[in-house]
This record gives sequence, structure tokens and C-alpha cells, in this order.
Amino acid sequence: MRNVTKDNITDVFMGYLAEDTDPRMREIMGSLVKHLHDFARETNLTHEEWRTGIAFLEGCAAVETEDRHEFVLASDVLGLSSLIDMLHSRDDATSSSVLGPFHVSGAPPLPVGGDMKRHYGGPLLLAEGVIKDTAGNPIPGAEIDIWQTAPNGLYASQDEEQDTYSFHGLMTVGEDGRYAFTTVKPVEYTVPSDGPVGDILRACGRHPWRPSHLHYIVKAEGFQPLVTEIFPEDDPYLDEDTVFGVRKDLVMRYVERPAADFPDGMVLSGKVTEPFLHVTFDVTLAPADT
Ligand code: BEZ
Ligand code: FE
Repeated sequence: MRNVTKDNITDVFMGYLAEDTDPRMREIMGSLVKHLHDFARETNLTHEEWRTGIAFLEGCAAVETEDRHEFVLASDVLGLSSLIDMLHSRDDATSSSVLGPFHVSGAPPLPVGGDMKRHYGGPLLLAEGVIKDTAGNPIPGAEIDIWQTAPNGLYASQDEEQDTYSFHGLMTVGEDGRYAFTTVKPVEYTVPSDGPVGDILRACGRHPWRPSHLHYIVKAEGFQPLVTEIFPEDDPYLDEDTVFGVRKDLVMRYVERPAADFPDGMVLSGKVTEPFLHVTFDVTLAPADT
């Protein structure tokens, strides 16, 4: 095309795609470019603004490392990661929620009833529940990968004071599908805001806080893996999570109980002398083939 105009450029782009372009590629690229062109036309984007956008992308690339994923963080604070989660979440299963950049593969095994709090200070939390199928039957042998921050609000990979796997554990449930562990009550914390994503948050008058949460990845043979989080209902940031991860069914009550109510069969049984917090959160997995 030798007569490209601001009105026909989107069609011209489509015309440049090879006849045999993969149909899904055609759909995605066509839609992406249409929305990009409409965005520039609607906002009458200037050269300077376009350069600012390019500098943002270059800034993200410059800070990317094995432990720092600025492009993913950008997707998170723009709500794109959560939107994709919700597009593919099933109504009859537990909602999924953002993975975030701090999951570490290879967490050490944590037995059912195990303890992740160890010597750390802060309120003791007992978290338990049953991993079920959509009919409500327990899923024996399901695996639950758990991670959270230390009481200082930092994940192990962000904090030289912590071991590689502190506050990370991989639990395999028994015939009853039940998981249970003790930990420290998670705290609210800020996503990394010292890079280009922090600049965007500040430019939009937004804060970098996430409500406190526990992260789970739950897997079982024959079921769709689930990446999710649990939030306490009294967290001050519940209604303003900077990465849009809160879903109604993931908000739970942490109930304070006297030490005498601490159950048997836990690593800390017989050692708890103060009141503790208790949350019950059952997880429903969708079958893999639907
Ligand atoms: C997290 O919850 O670990 C997280 C999620 C998104 C961005 C940053 C952190
Ligand atoms: Fe997190």
C-alpha cells in the first residue's frame, strides 16, 4: 500500500499479514494492533508521550533479572494478569488469583500439621482445609505449594536474612484431602516500587500495597492446577489491592481461639500457650478435561 493514511493504517496492517498466518495469531495481532491504533487516535498521542511509553518499556527491560520481573509486575498493576485469571476461572471451582513473582520452585516438603513459623515472632496462624473436587469429595494425594512473606513483609528471595525456602512449603495431603499447617499471620506489604512500575503508580496517584495473604498452588492428577491466595476479611487493603487479586470467595475470617483449643496432630501441639488465629479454607479444583 503506497497511500497509507491515519484512517486506513489498521486495515493496511491486516493486509500485510501472510495468507497462511496462523488463525489465532491473526486474531490476536489484529485485535492488539486495532486497539493500539484506536488508542493513539483517541488520545491523539504525541511523539513525546510515545517516547515516554517506549522509555517505560526500556526501563522494565533494564531492571529485569532472574528475581525481578518488571513486565509481569506492570501487567499485574494494570489489572491484565487478574483479568486473564478471571477469564479462565470456573464458577464451580475456587477462584484463581495472581501468582506474583515470588514463588520459588523446589520448596521443601511440609508434612500435614507442619510448622512454617519456626522462630519468627508475630501472631500464630493455624490454616487448614480440605482439597475437594467439584462434587465435594476430597482429593487424596493432592499437592499444595504454600508461600508467604516473613513478618517484615519480605519474601525469602528479597531478603538476605532469610533462608532460600523460609515461609515456603510443599504439602501432600492424605486420603482425607486435608491440609493443615501453622505459620505467622501474613502482613500487608508493598510490591516493588523502586522501578518503572513504581513511577507509573506514583504518576497515577496509586499506592503499591497488597492486602496480607497466603499463596497456594494446588495440583492433583486429573484436575486443573489452581494458583490462588487467601485474604483475611479485616485487612485494610482488601478493597484496594494494587494488583486486583482479591475475589469474594478468597476472603476468610481468621478467628482468635484460646491456646486450649489448639488441636492434636500438629507439630506445635502441646507447645501453644497463647491464643492463636485459625482459618479454614477449603479448595475446590476443576477437572482437567473440561
Ligand atoms: C505477590 O503477591 O507476591 C505479588 C503479586 C503481584 C505482584 C507482586 C507481588
Ligand atoms: Fe504475595
